[in-house]
Amino acid sequence: MTPGSILTVSGVTYAYGGGPVLQGVNLELAPGEIYALLGPNGAGKTTLIRTICGRIRPDGGQVLLEGADPSRVPASRAGLGLVPQEIALYPTLTVRENLQTFAALAGVPRARMTAAVARALELTRIEDRADQPIRHLSGGYQRRANIAAAMIHEPRLLILDEPTVGVDIDAREAVDTVIRGLRDLGVAILMTTHDLEQADALADRVGFLRAGRMALEGRPKALIAEAFGEKMEVLVHLVREVDEAGRAGLAGEGLEPTRTPLVWARLDADGYAAAGALDRRLRQAGLAPKEIRVREPSLANLFSRVAEGEAAA
Ligand SMILES: Nc1ncnc2c1ncn2[C@@H]1O[C@H](COP(=O)(O)OP(=O)(O)O)[C@@H](O)[C@H]1O
Ligand SMILES: [Mg+2]
Repeated sequence: MTPGSILTVSGVTYAYGGGPVLQGVNLELAPGEIYALLGPNGAGKTTLIRTICGRIRPDGGQVLLEGADPSRVPASRAGLGLVPQEIALYPTLTVRENLQTFAALAGVPRARMTAAVARALELTRIEDRADQPIRHLSGGYQRRANIAAAMIHEPRLLILDEPTVGVDIDAREAVDTVIRGLRDLGVAILMTTHDLEQADALADRVGFLRAGRMALEGRPKALIAEAFGEKMEVLVHLVREVDEAGRAGLAGEGLEPTRTPLVWARLDADGYAAAGALDRRLRQAGLAPKEIRVREPSLANLFSRVAEGEAAA
């Protein structure tokens, strides 16, 4: 275990009974660091979290949580807090009642209960909702209440599995602010997310899990620079849907559809210069764009590349 790390996962393998799910995963996390675990559905992210929490014991390799194996030393699990993908709170109890319940379950002494609840409410900025039942809260507030419950015993590692699921776009920033605040207090954060913009905005390091292996890992900026060098992403916003011939024309320019309707993109070493020429050609072809933007490649570009297997480490 590297000195100063809170969590060390080394060579972890696991199979539920079918094929292998984790195939030798390594991961190291330091205090005050946000690590985003990325990867397609079924890559093994939740399974990895379950091994870290000691809920399942790896078939091979080892998890060390502050030096102890959580699957063999249950007391070591007190060092982490888990926010599962599905909100795990009592829906009819208020936020405060939930926190009191979780504090009791976590063994917080009675004398410290009130202070612990107040601190958790403050860390997650939900004091104003403290006396409302969970089921009356929006997805964003529920998520923050679940973070408060996970932090009630002041763990040094917080694990969040898909924290933006069920949280609408407007409320995501508030969840991100809470996560950043905890990081700034020195808590180590391990999160899985489908939301690559969230990972871009939050993560100090990211890891791409693919078919049970860490395909790529590092600091987002460094990984993007390494993968794309000087290339820029050129984004074409169309005015309206195009027909078959239009799609062929766009594809002929090397453009690919993105997840955003009407937006096509390509990577180009000559970004800005290429955009002007591209605009002229698209207009001539009757595909007048509403807008063409040139920007630095993002984690989304990297994710597609890793998913296609090009950047396998
Ligand atoms: N309880 C289970 N029993 C059997 N197979 C499972 C179980 N949980 C997950 N799996 C399988 O393990 C693989 C990884 O799942 P999971 O860890 O949930 O991936 P992710 O969280 O990255 O989407 C998938 O193929 C999934 O079907
Ligand atoms: Mg999952």
